[in-house]
Amino acid sequence: MRRFLVTGGAGFIGSAFVRLLLDAIPESEIINLDLLTYAGNLDNLEGLDPARHQFIHGDIAAPETVHQALPDGCEAIVNFAAESHVDRSIADCAEFLRTNIVGTQVLLDAARAKGVKRFVQVSTDEVMGSLAEDDSSYFTEESPFAPNSPYAASKAAAEHLVRAAHHTFGLDAVVTRCGNNYGPRQFPEKFLPLMICNAFNDQSIPVYGDGLNVRDWIYVDDHCRAILAVLEKGKPGAAYNIGARNPRRNIEVAESVLAALGKPKSLLRFVVDRPGHDRRYAIDPSLIESELGWRPQETWESGIQKTIQWYQENSRWIERTRNNEYREYYRKQYGDKGAAS
Ligand code: NAD
Ligand code: TYD
Repeated sequence: MRRFLVTGGAGFIGSAFVRLLLDAIPESEIINLDLLTYAGNLDNLEGLDPARHQFIHGDIAAPETVHQALPDGCEAIVNFAAESHVDRSIADCAEFLRTNIVGTQVLLDAARAKGVKRFVQVSTDEVMGSLAEDDSSYFTEESPFAPNSPYAASKAAAEHLVRAAHHTFGLDAVVTRCGNNYGPRQFPEKFLPLMICNAFNDQSIPVYGDGLNVRDWIYVDDHCRAILAVLEKGKPGAAYNIGARNPRRNIEVAESVLAALGKPKSLLRFVVDRPGHDRRYAIDPSLIESELGWRPQETWESGIQKTIQWYQENSRWIERTRNNEYREYYRKQYGDKGAAS
């Protein structure tokens, strides 16, 4: 058997990766360590084979928990666990520092102590900050770090710790930096599922600022296949940018979702901008394409269709996710947001 520790595997991308790994590597066994924060959801793991997937409820920032969870002979740790929402990091970043930075260091220490063969850090394009609006530049693996939000800064710090573990202690570590994911089971605080869920109820959709910010969108399973390629074939110490060559303005994204749902554009409500809002992300994925042979399989159209269909078929998941805690978050985040000037 090949044993893996996946952290944050009850979240959006982590749960998709767990399913992919079990499918792609028939001899794999996964320990899934997740704290089940507001974003973690056991519904995301429904139907998995208990003989090959074991869920452990625990904190990556707690050394004893991690030590106990880490199976003997573990081939790799794949670290998805994180506080992941920029707006929440602006409101309060304490948990971001604890989980994203301290938690990553705890995992790195445990990997060394237990002789884990490989460490995969799932990072983000946001560590590289914002590209200028009107040039045609892209993020490459050589782009300098320039994180702008507390979230991005915490992910950049984590990457530095991974790099240091590789450089100083020779830990075989690899980093992935992906753009904005979309797909089934994404917590509806993020733009895409927030739009879909609001539009289902004819509720208005808050668009920050002028709606012209650009994000580079990728279907979640394409991201997961890229992480698997890096896990299997990535060079020790390397970082790989992951993107589907799909940069789009927020307003364009919103309009295509509304069109696919048959809902009117009048649902869009332009609200006061996010502080420090990065203007443009665009990823050059040439390295992972040429070195590891990875290519995205979904187009924007097919990915959006699959995503919308999943939310249409999973109203119970939406109801359970948009609980009292979510409604309270929504009220605080959007309740008194004025119109964009
Ligand atoms: P998510 O918020 O949906 O899931 C995060 C998971 O981590 C949850 O299940 C949560 O319970 C768990 N978690 C949080 N704190 C923990 C802790 N202290 N110990 C153990 N588990 C903990 O996030 P996501 O969108 O699935 O993102 C997963 C990873 O991918 C993150 O590291 C994120 O930075 C990165 N990433 C996300 C995107 C994106 O578009 N969503 C893009 C690039 C990179
Ligand atoms: P988000 O899903 O929060 O991802 P990130 O900030 O990590 O890119 O936001 C995607 C884009 O959508 C970003 O430019 C901010 C914007 N946005 C809105 O316009 N309205 C919203 O309610 C949210 C959550 C995001």
